[in-house]
Amino acid sequence: MKKTLTIAGKEYGTVWLAPMAGMGDASFRRICKEHGADYLTTEMVSAKALCYGDKKTPSLAAIRDYETPVAIQLFGSEPETMAKAATILLSLSDKSGVYPAAIDVNMGCPMAKVVKCGDGSALMKTPAHAEAIVRAMVAALGDMPVTVKMRIGWDDSSLNVVEMAKRVEDAGAAAICVHARTREEMYTPGIRPEYIRMVKEAVSVPVIGNGDIFSARDAERMVAETGCDGVAVARGALGNPWLFEEIHLGKDFIPPTKKERLTEALRHFELMVLEKGERIAVCESRAAIAYYTKGLDGSAKIRGLMNTAETADGIRRILSDFIEEKLGH
Ligand SMILES: Cc1cc2nc3c(=O)[nH]c(=O)nc-3n(C[C@H](O)[C@H](O)[C@H](O)COP(=O)(O)O)c2cc1C
Repeated sequence: MKKTLTIAGKEYGTVWLAPMAGMGDASFRRICKEHGADYLTTEMVSAKALCYGDKKTPSLAAIRDYETPVAIQLFGSEPETMAKAATILLSLSDKSGVYPAAIDVNMGCPMAKVVKCGDGSALMKTPAHAEAIVRAMVAALGDMPVTVKMRIGWDDSSLNVVEMAKRVEDAGAAAICVHARTREEMYTPGIRPEYIRMVKEAVSVPVIGNGDIFSARDAERMVAETGCDGVAVARGALGNPWLFEEIHLGKDFIPPTKKERLTEALRHFELMVLEKGERIAVCESRAAIAYYTKGLDGSAKIRGLMNTAETADGIRRILSDFIEEKLGH
């Protein structure tokens, strides 16, 4: 795999963390960065919510200097709202002094509550409209690149990713990430890499391949089958941020021990407490920690205990006891 790719004149590494609503928060992004993720993207942020002044949304979009390069992803379907939201993000950056590498547009989210508003992967059904969104954002953002993440189509009767990619490139998109499934396929196993190859052949901006990368071999296969410039991983990194090291190192990679996995779960939890406070961290960490314990002896027991823990100290105790092998199976 190539080591670098260039977006709007800047060089970046080629192994990316894909955006994940509900999981890809600042604490997880930090951990992935420490394990070698070359480029991060925030959870999707509602353009409408930003424009209407929703109080919680800016914190979802907040980025830290230690996680750069990081893109902020927006979802929405009105060109003016998307452009305005993008400029709001830039004014937040003017305040914090931390700028995103790009503003990314979500054209892939399959969730019913998102597509029913015409957002996310519903934009695959309205190519001219998707193009207008990118054009409006590029006009509003000046030097800040706009990138797009899309699926290969809405369903098998409309496999239009090549047309979509050409349109958004024409509108000024600086890179395109393709999740090689239709909206209808949601996350069913099996991707169609040939569509990423077709996009790569059709556009000249960098193309990032995404879908079902759970190992270094998967990443190599993605590059070999598609010629993509970089890869983005989502589910494979959950509980396994070592995946980035594995992709970078290939056969030299040594997998983490049980103790290393649990120690990282504890650190992930502590970062969540720092970011979100104890109450939210205790609730939200359950899913994140369950991924680290998946497949380990005693993982069902630890999950059960985590579900009843109500305080940060409770969670710390469970993980420490598990690390020290004090919990029976
Ligand atoms: C929990 C979860 C949340 C996701 N949230 C987003 C999101 O906010 N924006 C987006 O473009 N894609 C989102 N995705 C899709 C992923 O970025 C990625 O395209 C998809 O999971 C396929 O990659 P994978 O096989 O490596 O998981 C999400 C996926 C998951 C599993």
